[in-house]
Amino acid sequence: MLGKLLLVACIAATTMGKVQDPAWPFDLTEIKAPDGSITAKFVSFGSTMTELWVKDRDGKARDVILGYDDNSKLLTDPAHPVFNPIVGRYANRIKNGTFSIPISKNPDPKAPNTYHIPTNDQNGQVTLHGGIYGWDRRNWTLVDKSPSSVTYMHVDDADEGFPGTVTVFATHTVSNGGILRTRLRASASQKTPIMLTQHIYWNLDAFQDGNNDIYSHNLRLASSRTIEVDDIAIPTGKFLDVTGTPSDFRKGEELGARWNESVGLCGTGTVTLSNPITAVTYSPLPGCQGYNNGWVLDDPNSKQPAVTLKSESSGIRVDITTNQPVVIVYTSFWLNTPRKEVHGGPSLNYGPQSAVAIEQQGYIAAINTPEWHIDQIYYPGKDYEWSSEYKFSNF
Ligand SMILES: *[C@@H]1O[C@H](CO)[C@@H](O)[C@H](O)[C@H]1NC(C)=O
Ligand SMILES: *[C@@H]1O[C@H](CO)[C@@H](O)[C@H](O)[C@H]1NC(C)=O
Ligand SMILES: *[C@@H]1O[C@H](CO)[C@@H](O)[C@H](O)[C@H]1NC(C)=O
Repeated sequence: MLGKLLLVACIAATTMGKVQDPAWPFDLTEIKAPDGSITAKFVSFGSTMTELWVKDRDGKARDVILGYDDNSKLLTDPAHPVFNPIVGRYANRIKNGTFSIPISKNPDPKAPNTYHIPTNDQNGQVTLHGGIYGWDRRNWTLVDKSPSSVTYMHVDDADEGFPGTVTVFATHTVSNGGILRTRLRASASQKTPIMLTQHIYWNLDAFQDGNNDIYSHNLRLASSRTIEVDDIAIPTGKFLDVTGTPSDFRKGEELGARWNESVGLCGTGTVTLSNPITAVTYSPLPGCQGYNNGWVLDDPNSKQPAVTLKSESSGIRVDITTNQPVVIVYTSFWLNTPRKEVHGGPSLNYGPQSAVAIEQQGYIAAINTPEWHIDQIYYPGKDYEWSSEYKFSNF
């Protein structure tokens, strides 16, 4: 499958000569649905979506995702908020950056089948989003493009200490009726964990009409259980029933409805992030409030949307359908980055609660949680597939 894709990609890139890979990884590529309902812009760096324009209820286009005016900040911003790239080779957290194949709860650090990935979170106790130079901080290659679709490829050759080579294709497509689809396909040269996500920060008001936060965004999640984590955000192995808690979004609820009860749900808030690329240490505000959790979908791989997010103010609604079993919701407590001009920047910053990141992915840290019996190891003959559809409408 991927061999064929690679061949197609090579033909597209060389023989047909239609695809011009931008020399500068922060050059924009725009895709647009034929009916004009949706326009997205990407850079090859991280296969990152930089703008997403959809119509509000008055028919005016708004850019509903966070980002930078200068996209080279995707590499250099010491805060590294991970604005809308593809995250890999292993999204979310790995305790001490350590895992083994076959997987185990507490890998013997000296064993030959144990791997160590550089840590970059929780004061060096955890690897977040694939290491210091995860896939979101790599130059991907543009391999195919049409007016409404773009495909990037990346070859991860044992980067950050992961085993073997992984070749990944990310295809982003927009279509009539306000639909964005993202499809990721990856193949591995030897046994390796793969767990990917698309890390989009949403603000469906686009900071217009005095709306600067997501408290009144209404979220629906088709999930009855969250993943319990310890004080460094690593799963304990247990699941928590959402019934009666501020994490119950099954019927649709404003994010701010039970905000004061959410203290502690998003971690201890004492984290110091260090950016080895710019050698800057960044200390976010202490005292985390809001959400930064994983919800297990009740009906994984459902054809029905697992997530609905909508805002009364703009009248924009997005329904997300995915083949992934878990959704992370992060209400951006640690954000503190100058806004895009179109969002009122650069004098104003994106701050805590100014967006909600929704990340469809696998069970977090399942490679150190063998009691779940979740297989996230891929190898020749077993390819990885990730897909999500984002359907926009007005109400
Ligand atoms: C990514 O692209 C930039 C700009 O062309 C270049 O300076 C940098 O060396 C590239 N990084 C890698 C790892 O190839
Ligand atoms: C934690 O990671 C470090 C650095 O890779 C390694 O030296 C150490 O043995 C690991 N400890 C455990 C308990 O896995
Ligand atoms: C939340 O807590 C703050 C500060 O303690 C308080 O001012 C506010 O009224 C509370 N909001 C609700 C909805 O209870």
